[in-house]
Amino acid sequence: MTQSKALNIESVLPAPDSSARQQSERLITRITESMHQQAGVIGFDQYMKMALYEPGLGYYSAGSRKFGSEGDFVTAPELSPLFSQCLAQQCKQILNELDSASILELGAGTGVMAGDLLLALEKQDCLPEKYYILEVSADLKQRQQEYLGKTLPHLNQKIIWLDALPENKMTGVILANEVLDALPVKRFKKTATGFKELKVGLKEATFNWVENDAEVSLRKTLQQLENNLSLRLPENFTSEINVDLGQWLSALNGVLEQGVMLFIDYGYSAAEYYHPEKSDGSLLCHYRHRVHADPFVYPGLQDITCSVNFTAVAESADSLSMHVSGYTNQTYFLFACGLENLVADMNTLDSKTQTKIAQQVRTLTMPEEMGERFKVMALTNNYDSVLQGFSLMDQRIRL
Ligand SMILES: C[S@@+](CC[C@H](N)C(=O)[O-])C[C@H]1O[C@@H](n2cnc3c(N)ncnc32)[C@H](O)[C@@H]1O
Repeated sequence: MTQSKALNIESVLPAPDSSARQQSERLITRITESMHQQAGVIGFDQYMKMALYEPGLGYYSAGSRKFGSEGDFVTAPELSPLFSQCLAQQCKQILNELDSASILELGAGTGVMAGDLLLALEKQDCLPEKYYILEVSADLKQRQQEYLGKTLPHLNQKIIWLDALPENKMTGVILANEVLDALPVKRFKKTATGFKELKVGLKEATFNWVENDAEVSLRKTLQQLENNLSLRLPENFTSEINVDLGQWLSALNGVLEQGVMLFIDYGYSAAEYYHPEKSDGSLLCHYRHRVHADPFVYPGLQDITCSVNFTAVAESADSLSMHVSGYTNQTYFLFACGLENLVADMNTLDSKTQTKIAQQVRTLTMPEEMGERFKVMALTNNYDSVLQGFSLMDQRIRL
Protein backbone atom coordinates (compact mmCIF):
# COMPACT_ATOMS: atom_id res chain seq x y z
CA MET A 1 0.00 0.00 0.00
CA THR A 2 1.15 3.49 -0.66
CA GLN A 3 1.71 5.46 2.50
CA SER A 4 -1.18 7.85 3.15
CA LYS A 5 -1.05 10.65 5.73
CA ALA A 6 -0.76 9.54 9.35
CA LEU A 7 -3.95 10.57 11.05
CA ASN A 8 -4.87 11.77 14.47
CA ILE A 9 -7.71 9.40 15.31
CA GLU A 10 -9.51 12.25 17.05
CA SER A 11 -10.05 13.99 13.75
CA VAL A 12 -13.11 13.00 11.83
CA LEU A 13 -13.01 10.05 9.44
CA PRO A 14 -15.43 10.18 6.51
CA ALA A 15 -18.70 8.76 7.76
CA PRO A 16 -19.82 5.44 6.29
CA ASP A 17 -23.23 5.33 4.61
CA SER A 18 -26.12 3.61 6.33
CA SER A 19 -25.75 0.24 4.60
CA ALA A 20 -22.03 0.13 5.48
CA ARG A 21 -22.91 1.05 9.05
CA GLN A 22 -25.45 -1.78 9.19
CA GLN A 23 -22.88 -4.25 7.87
CA SER A 24 -20.45 -3.10 10.55
CA GLU A 25 -23.11 -3.44 13.25
CA ARG A 26 -23.94 -6.99 12.12
CA LEU A 27 -20.25 -7.85 12.30
CA ILE A 28 -19.97 -6.31 15.78
CA THR A 29 -22.87 -8.54 16.87
CA ARG A 30 -21.15 -11.61 15.38
CA ILE A 31 -17.85 -10.79 17.12
CA THR A 32 -19.66 -10.11 20.39
CA GLU A 33 -21.36 -13.53 20.18
CA SER A 34 -17.93 -15.14 19.82
CA MET A 35 -16.73 -13.22 22.88
CA HIS A 36 -19.69 -14.44 24.93
CA GLN A 37 -18.71 -18.01 24.05
CA GLN A 38 -15.18 -17.36 25.35
CA ALA A 39 -15.65 -15.73 28.76
CA GLY A 40 -16.00 -12.23 27.27
CA VAL A 41 -12.65 -11.89 25.49
CA ILE A 42 -11.08 -13.14 22.26
CA GLY A 43 -7.48 -13.01 21.05
CA PHE A 44 -6.65 -10.12 18.74
CA ASP A 45 -5.82 -12.70 16.05
CA GLN A 46 -9.41 -13.95 16.20
CA TYR A 47 -10.74 -10.38 16.18
CA MET A 48 -8.58 -9.50 13.15
CA LYS A 49 -9.65 -12.67 11.35
CA MET A 50 -13.32 -11.89 11.88
CA ALA A 51 -12.94 -8.17 11.09
CA LEU A 52 -11.27 -9.01 7.79
CA TYR A 53 -12.70 -12.34 6.70
CA GLU A 54 -16.01 -13.12 8.45
CA PRO A 55 -18.12 -14.46 5.54
CA GLY A 56 -20.27 -11.70 4.04
CA LEU A 57 -19.34 -9.17 6.74
CA GLY A 58 -15.55 -8.91 7.09
CA TYR A 59 -13.59 -6.19 5.32
CA TYR A 60 -12.30 -8.51 2.57
CA SER A 61 -15.42 -10.67 2.42
CA ALA A 62 -18.02 -7.94 2.01
CA GLY A 63 -18.50 -5.76 -1.05
CA SER A 64 -16.73 -2.48 -0.19
CA ARG A 65 -14.48 -1.00 -2.84
CA LYS A 66 -11.17 -1.36 -0.93
CA PHE A 67 -8.65 -0.79 -3.76
CA GLY A 68 -7.85 2.33 -5.75
CA SER A 69 -8.32 6.06 -5.30
CA GLU A 70 -11.98 5.66 -4.33
CA GLY A 71 -11.26 2.79 -1.97
CA ASP A 72 -9.06 2.65 1.12
CA PHE A 73 -5.55 2.02 -0.25
CA VAL A 74 -3.53 1.48 -3.42
CA THR A 75 -1.20 -1.49 -3.86
CA ALA A 76 1.80 -1.58 -6.22
CA PRO A 77 0.10 -3.60 -9.01
CA GLU A 78 -2.91 -1.25 -8.78
CA LEU A 79 -0.61 1.75 -9.02
CA SER A 80 1.24 0.73 -12.18
CA PRO A 81 1.47 -2.21 -14.60
CA LEU A 82 5.26 -1.71 -14.45
CA PHE A 83 5.27 -3.56 -11.13
CA SER A 84 3.72 -6.72 -12.61
CA GLN A 85 5.81 -6.40 -15.76
CA CYS A 86 8.98 -6.51 -13.64
CA LEU A 87 7.62 -9.42 -11.65
CA ALA A 88 6.94 -11.15 -14.98
CA GLN A 89 10.68 -10.94 -15.75
CA GLN A 90 11.44 -12.82 -12.54
CA CYS A 91 8.70 -15.38 -13.27
CA LYS A 92 10.00 -15.81 -16.81
CA GLN A 93 13.42 -16.88 -15.54
CA ILE A 94 11.85 -19.49 -13.26
CA LEU A 95 9.26 -20.74 -15.78
CA ASN A 96 11.98 -21.14 -18.44
CA GLU A 97 14.13 -23.25 -16.13
CA LEU A 98 11.41 -25.64 -14.95
CA ASP A 99 9.27 -28.16 -16.85
CA SER A 100 5.48 -27.76 -16.89
CA ALA A 101 5.62 -24.88 -14.44
CA SER A 102 2.58 -23.02 -13.16
CA ILE A 103 1.98 -19.90 -11.08
CA LEU A 104 -0.12 -19.83 -7.92
CA GLU A 105 -1.09 -16.34 -6.75
CA LEU A 106 -2.33 -15.94 -3.20
CA GLY A 107 -4.81 -13.14 -2.48
CA ALA A 108 -5.15 -11.62 -5.95
CA GLY A 109 -7.09 -8.48 -4.93
CA THR A 110 -8.86 -7.07 -8.00
CA GLY A 111 -6.97 -9.46 -10.33
CA VAL A 112 -4.96 -6.67 -11.93
CA MET A 113 -1.57 -8.23 -11.13
CA ALA A 114 -2.65 -11.57 -12.63
CA GLY A 115 -3.83 -9.76 -15.78
CA ASP A 116 -0.69 -7.67 -16.30
CA LEU A 117 1.59 -10.57 -15.45
CA LEU A 118 -0.09 -12.94 -17.89
CA LEU A 119 -0.04 -10.34 -20.68
CA ALA A 120 3.66 -9.68 -20.13
CA LEU A 121 4.45 -13.40 -20.11
CA GLU A 122 2.35 -13.98 -23.22
CA LYS A 123 4.28 -11.24 -25.06
CA GLN A 124 7.48 -13.12 -24.27
CA ASP A 125 6.01 -16.47 -25.22
CA CYS A 126 6.45 -17.75 -21.72
CA LEU A 127 2.99 -18.46 -20.35
CA PRO A 128 2.73 -20.80 -17.36
CA GLU A 129 0.88 -24.12 -17.70
CA LYS A 130 -1.80 -22.79 -15.37
CA TYR A 131 -2.34 -19.64 -13.33
CA TYR A 132 -3.98 -20.60 -10.06
CA ILE A 133 -5.55 -18.00 -7.78
CA LEU A 134 -6.27 -18.82 -4.16
CA GLU A 135 -8.57 -16.14 -2.81
CA VAL A 136 -10.25 -16.35 0.59
CA SER A 137 -12.72 -13.57 -0.18
CA ALA A 138 -15.78 -14.59 -2.21
CA ASP A 139 -16.37 -10.93 -3.14
CA LEU A 140 -12.83 -10.45 -4.49
CA LYS A 141 -12.95 -13.79 -6.30
CA GLN A 142 -16.03 -12.61 -8.16
CA ARG A 143 -14.39 -9.28 -8.99
CA GLN A 144 -11.26 -11.09 -10.26
CA GLN A 145 -13.38 -13.36 -12.45
CA GLU A 146 -15.24 -10.41 -13.96
CA TYR A 147 -12.08 -8.37 -14.50
CA LEU A 148 -9.98 -11.16 -16.01
CA GLY A 149 -12.94 -12.46 -18.04
CA LYS A 150 -13.21 -9.02 -19.64
CA THR A 151 -9.53 -8.13 -20.04
CA LEU A 152 -8.03 -11.50 -21.01
CA PRO A 153 -10.84 -13.64 -22.47
CA HIS A 154 -8.31 -15.54 -24.64
CA LEU A 155 -6.29 -16.61 -21.58
CA ASN A 156 -9.16 -17.51 -19.32
CA GLN A 157 -8.73 -21.26 -19.77
CA LYS A 158 -5.33 -20.86 -18.06
CA ILE A 159 -6.78 -19.31 -14.89
CA ILE A 160 -8.14 -21.58 -12.19
CA TRP A 161 -9.61 -20.32 -8.92
CA LEU A 162 -9.03 -22.41 -5.83
CA ASP A 163 -10.80 -22.36 -2.47
CA ALA A 164 -7.92 -24.10 -0.72
CA LEU A 165 -4.34 -25.01 -1.55
CA PRO A 166 -4.12 -27.57 -4.38
CA GLU A 167 -4.08 -31.21 -3.31
CA ASN A 168 -1.48 -32.10 -5.95
CA LYS A 169 2.02 -30.76 -5.68
CA MET A 170 3.07 -28.13 -8.19
CA THR A 171 6.21 -26.89 -9.90
CA GLY A 172 6.67 -23.18 -10.51
CA VAL A 173 6.09 -19.95 -8.65
CA ILE A 174 3.94 -18.99 -5.67
CA LEU A 175 3.31 -15.22 -5.50
CA ALA A 176 1.88 -13.15 -2.69
CA ASN A 177 1.84 -9.37 -2.87
CA GLU A 178 0.61 -7.74 0.35
CA VAL A 179 -0.91 -10.96 1.66
CA LEU A 180 1.35 -11.66 4.65
CA ASP A 181 0.47 -8.27 6.18
CA ALA A 182 -3.19 -9.31 6.12
CA LEU A 183 -2.63 -12.51 8.13
CA PRO A 184 -4.00 -12.33 11.70
CA VAL A 185 -1.51 -11.54 14.48
CA LYS A 186 -1.51 -11.65 18.26
CA ARG A 187 -0.75 -8.47 20.19
CA PHE A 188 1.39 -8.55 23.32
CA LYS A 189 2.88 -6.27 25.95
CA LYS A 190 5.91 -6.67 28.15
CA THR A 191 5.22 -5.63 31.76
CA ALA A 192 7.06 -5.72 35.07
CA THR A 193 5.30 -9.02 35.79
CA GLY A 194 6.03 -10.63 32.44
CA PHE A 195 4.42 -10.91 29.02
CA LYS A 196 0.71 -10.12 28.65
CA GLU A 197 -1.47 -10.92 25.70
CA LEU A 198 -3.63 -7.98 24.63
CA LYS A 199 -6.99 -9.53 23.89
CA VAL A 200 -10.21 -7.88 22.81
CA GLY A 201 -13.20 -7.33 25.09
CA LEU A 202 -16.31 -5.18 25.09
CA LYS A 203 -16.93 -2.19 27.35
CA GLU A 204 -19.95 0.07 27.05
CA ALA A 205 -20.71 -1.28 23.57
CA THR A 206 -17.16 -0.58 22.30
CA PHE A 207 -14.36 -3.03 21.75
CA ASN A 208 -11.31 -2.42 23.91
CA TRP A 209 -7.98 -4.00 24.82
CA VAL A 210 -7.93 -6.44 27.71
CA GLU A 211 -4.62 -7.45 29.28
CA ASN A 212 -4.32 -11.14 30.16
CA ASP A 213 -1.29 -13.13 31.30
CA ALA A 214 0.22 -14.66 28.17
CA GLU A 215 -0.43 -18.37 27.92
CA VAL A 216 2.57 -20.67 28.24
CA SER A 217 3.11 -21.20 24.51
CA LEU A 218 2.99 -17.47 23.70
CA ARG A 219 5.23 -16.67 26.66
CA LYS A 220 7.79 -19.23 25.52
CA THR A 221 7.70 -17.91 21.97
CA LEU A 222 8.32 -14.36 23.19
CA GLN A 223 11.12 -15.43 25.54
CA GLN A 224 12.70 -17.26 22.62
CA LEU A 225 12.36 -14.11 20.54
CA GLU A 226 14.23 -12.10 23.20
CA ASN A 227 16.95 -14.76 23.34
CA ASN A 228 17.34 -14.76 19.56
CA LEU A 229 17.65 -10.98 19.55
CA SER A 230 19.93 -10.99 22.60
CA LEU A 231 17.87 -8.31 24.30
CA ARG A 232 15.28 -7.83 27.00
CA LEU A 233 12.34 -5.86 25.68
CA PRO A 234 11.63 -2.79 27.83
CA GLU A 235 8.61 -2.48 30.10
CA ASN A 236 5.42 -1.46 28.28
CA PHE A 237 6.87 -2.53 24.93
CA THR A 238 3.88 -3.53 22.84
CA SER A 239 3.99 -5.30 19.52
CA GLU A 240 2.54 -8.08 17.38
CA ILE A 241 3.48 -11.61 16.44
CA ASN A 242 2.07 -14.03 13.89
CA VAL A 243 2.07 -17.30 15.81
CA ASP A 244 0.53 -19.21 12.89
CA LEU A 245 3.16 -18.22 10.35
CA GLY A 246 5.01 -21.56 10.55
CA GLN A 247 1.84 -23.52 9.94
CA TRP A 248 0.86 -21.27 7.02
CA LEU A 249 4.26 -21.64 5.40
CA SER A 250 4.33 -25.36 6.04
CA ALA A 251 1.09 -25.74 4.08
CA LEU A 252 2.62 -23.82 1.14
CA ASN A 253 5.80 -25.84 1.40
CA GLY A 254 3.73 -29.00 1.12
CA VAL A 255 2.43 -27.80 -2.25
CA LEU A 256 5.61 -26.52 -3.92
CA GLU A 257 7.61 -29.55 -5.02
CA GLN A 258 10.04 -27.47 -7.04
CA GLY A 259 10.25 -23.74 -7.54
CA VAL A 260 10.13 -20.36 -5.85
CA MET A 261 7.85 -18.52 -3.44
CA LEU A 262 8.02 -14.74 -3.77
CA PHE A 263 6.60 -12.67 -0.94
CA ILE A 264 6.36 -8.91 -1.40
CA ASP A 265 5.24 -6.85 1.55
CA TYR A 266 6.09 -4.08 3.96
CA GLY A 267 8.20 -5.27 6.79
CA TYR A 268 11.59 -5.56 8.39
CA SER A 269 14.07 -7.90 10.01
CA ALA A 270 13.25 -9.01 13.59
CA ALA A 271 15.90 -6.66 15.03
CA GLU A 272 14.19 -3.68 13.40
CA TYR A 273 10.68 -4.98 14.07
CA TYR A 274 11.26 -5.42 17.79
CA HIS A 275 13.65 -2.51 18.22
CA PRO A 276 13.02 -1.05 21.70
CA GLU A 277 12.20 2.31 20.10
CA LYS A 278 9.41 0.74 18.07
CA SER A 279 7.46 0.34 21.26
CA ASP A 280 3.90 0.43 19.97
CA GLY A 281 4.09 -2.25 17.30
CA SER A 282 3.17 -1.91 13.66
CA LEU A 283 -0.56 -2.42 13.56
CA LEU A 284 -2.15 -0.05 11.03
CA CYS A 285 -5.66 0.50 9.73
CA HIS A 286 -6.55 1.93 6.33
CA TYR A 287 -9.83 3.67 5.76
CA ARG A 288 -10.39 5.85 2.71
CA HIS A 289 -6.70 6.70 2.45
CA ARG A 290 -6.46 7.66 6.10
CA VAL A 291 -4.03 5.68 8.23
CA HIS A 292 -4.44 5.20 11.96
CA ALA A 293 -3.79 2.55 14.58
CA ASP A 294 -7.20 1.86 16.11
CA PRO A 295 -8.48 -1.53 14.93
CA PHE A 296 -11.81 -1.04 16.71
CA VAL A 297 -12.98 1.80 14.46
CA TYR A 298 -15.72 0.71 12.01
CA PRO A 299 -15.11 -3.08 12.24
CA GLY A 300 -15.47 -4.62 8.79
CA LEU A 301 -15.17 -1.28 6.98
CA GLN A 302 -11.45 -0.65 7.39
CA ASP A 303 -8.42 -2.73 6.52
CA ILE A 304 -6.26 -3.92 9.43
CA THR A 305 -2.67 -4.78 8.66
CA CYS A 306 0.57 -5.53 10.39
CA SER A 307 4.11 -5.27 9.00
CA VAL A 308 5.87 -8.54 8.26
CA ASN A 309 8.73 -9.86 10.36
CA PHE A 310 10.84 -11.24 7.52
CA THR A 311 13.32 -12.85 9.91
CA ALA A 312 10.44 -14.96 11.22
CA VAL A 313 9.52 -15.93 7.65
CA ALA A 314 13.14 -16.93 6.98
CA GLU A 315 13.39 -18.91 10.24
CA SER A 316 10.15 -20.78 9.52
CA ALA A 317 11.38 -21.52 6.00
CA ASP A 318 14.65 -22.79 7.40
CA SER A 319 12.91 -25.13 9.81
CA LEU A 320 10.93 -26.54 6.86
CA SER A 321 14.19 -27.11 4.94
CA MET A 322 13.33 -24.50 2.37
CA HIS A 323 16.12 -22.25 1.17
CA VAL A 324 15.97 -18.48 1.66
CA SER A 325 17.30 -17.48 -1.76
CA GLY A 326 16.93 -13.72 -1.65
CA TYR A 327 15.84 -10.72 0.39
CA THR A 328 15.94 -7.20 -0.89
CA ASN A 329 13.85 -4.07 -1.04
CA GLN A 330 11.32 -3.30 -3.76
CA THR A 331 13.55 -0.71 -5.47
CA TYR A 332 16.45 -3.10 -5.99
CA PHE A 333 14.11 -5.89 -7.01
CA LEU A 334 12.30 -3.83 -9.64
CA PHE A 335 15.52 -2.41 -11.11
CA ALA A 336 17.10 -5.87 -11.18
CA CYS A 337 14.05 -7.05 -13.09
CA GLY A 338 14.54 -4.39 -15.76
CA LEU A 339 12.41 -1.45 -14.62
CA GLU A 340 14.79 0.97 -16.34
CA ASN A 341 14.43 -0.77 -19.72
CA LEU A 342 10.65 -0.88 -19.42
CA VAL A 343 10.57 2.86 -18.75
CA ALA A 344 12.97 3.57 -21.64
CA ASP A 345 10.58 1.68 -23.97
CA MET A 346 7.99 4.32 -23.16
CA ASN A 347 10.01 7.22 -24.60
CA THR A 348 7.77 7.43 -27.64
CA LEU A 349 4.65 8.09 -25.55
CA ASP A 350 3.16 11.58 -25.22
CA SER A 351 4.58 13.82 -22.52
CA LYS A 352 1.51 13.63 -20.27
CA THR A 353 1.71 9.85 -20.17
CA GLN A 354 5.45 9.99 -19.57
CA THR A 355 4.93 12.31 -16.60
CA LYS A 356 2.34 9.94 -15.19
CA ILE A 357 4.69 6.98 -15.58
CA ALA A 358 7.56 8.91 -13.98
CA GLN A 359 5.32 9.56 -10.97
CA GLN A 360 4.43 5.85 -10.75
CA VAL A 361 8.10 4.90 -10.85
CA ARG A 362 8.82 7.37 -8.05
CA THR A 363 6.06 5.93 -5.86
CA LEU A 364 7.23 2.37 -6.50
CA THR A 365 10.90 3.07 -5.83
CA MET A 366 11.56 6.17 -3.71
CA PRO A 367 12.72 5.16 -0.21
CA GLU A 368 10.13 7.34 1.53
CA GLU A 369 7.34 5.88 -0.63
CA MET A 370 7.25 2.11 -1.32
CA GLY A 371 10.87 1.54 -2.32
CA GLU A 372 12.45 0.83 1.05
CA ARG A 373 9.45 -0.09 3.19
CA PHE A 374 8.54 -2.94 0.86
CA LYS A 375 10.73 -6.01 0.78
CA VAL A 376 10.85 -9.02 -1.49
CA MET A 377 11.76 -12.44 -0.16
CA ALA A 378 12.35 -15.59 -2.20
CA LEU A 379 12.06 -19.07 -0.69
CA THR A 380 13.00 -22.00 -2.88
CA ASN A 381 12.53 -25.73 -3.03
CA ASN A 382 14.83 -27.76 -5.30
CA TYR A 383 15.78 -24.66 -7.26
CA ASP A 384 19.39 -23.45 -7.25
CA SER A 385 19.71 -20.67 -9.83
CA VAL A 386 20.55 -17.15 -8.73
CA LEU A 387 17.32 -15.20 -9.05
CA GLN A 388 17.38 -12.14 -11.30
CA GLY A 389 15.44 -9.94 -8.87
CA PHE A 390 18.18 -10.22 -6.22
CA SER A 391 21.15 -9.77 -8.53
CA LEU A 392 21.62 -6.03 -7.79
CA MET A 393 21.44 -6.29 -4.01
CA ASP A 394 20.80 -9.20 -1.70
CA GLN A 395 20.20 -8.20 1.91
CA ARG A 396 19.84 -11.63 3.55
CA ILE A 397 22.59 -10.62 5.91
CA ARG A 398 20.17 -8.15 7.53
CA LEU A 399 17.75 -10.90 8.58
C1 LIG B 1 -4.03 -6.13 0.69
S1 LIG B 1 -4.85 -7.26 -0.31
C2 LIG B 1 -3.65 -7.43 -1.62
C3 LIG B 1 -4.27 -7.81 -2.92
C4 LIG B 1 -3.33 -7.94 -4.12
N1 LIG B 1 -2.36 -8.96 -3.92
C5 LIG B 1 -2.69 -6.62 -4.45
O1 LIG B 1 -1.48 -6.51 -4.27
O2 LIG B 1 -3.39 -5.72 -4.91
C6 LIG B 1 -4.76 -8.81 0.54
C7 LIG B 1 -5.32 -9.98 -0.23
O3 LIG B 1 -4.98 -11.19 0.43
C8 LIG B 1 -6.13 -12.02 0.51
N2 LIG B 1 -5.85 -13.00 1.58
C9 LIG B 1 -5.79 -12.79 2.90
N3 LIG B 1 -5.46 -13.91 3.57
C10 LIG B 1 -5.25 -14.86 2.64
C11 LIG B 1 -4.87 -16.22 2.68
N4 LIG B 1 -4.64 -16.84 3.84
N5 LIG B 1 -4.74 -16.89 1.52
C12 LIG B 1 -5.00 -16.28 0.34
N6 LIG B 1 -5.38 -14.99 0.24
C13 LIG B 1 -5.51 -14.28 1.37
C14 LIG B 1 -7.25 -11.01 0.68
O4 LIG B 1 -8.51 -11.53 0.46
C15 LIG B 1 -6.82 -9.98 -0.39
O5 LIG B 1 -7.15 -10.39 -1.69
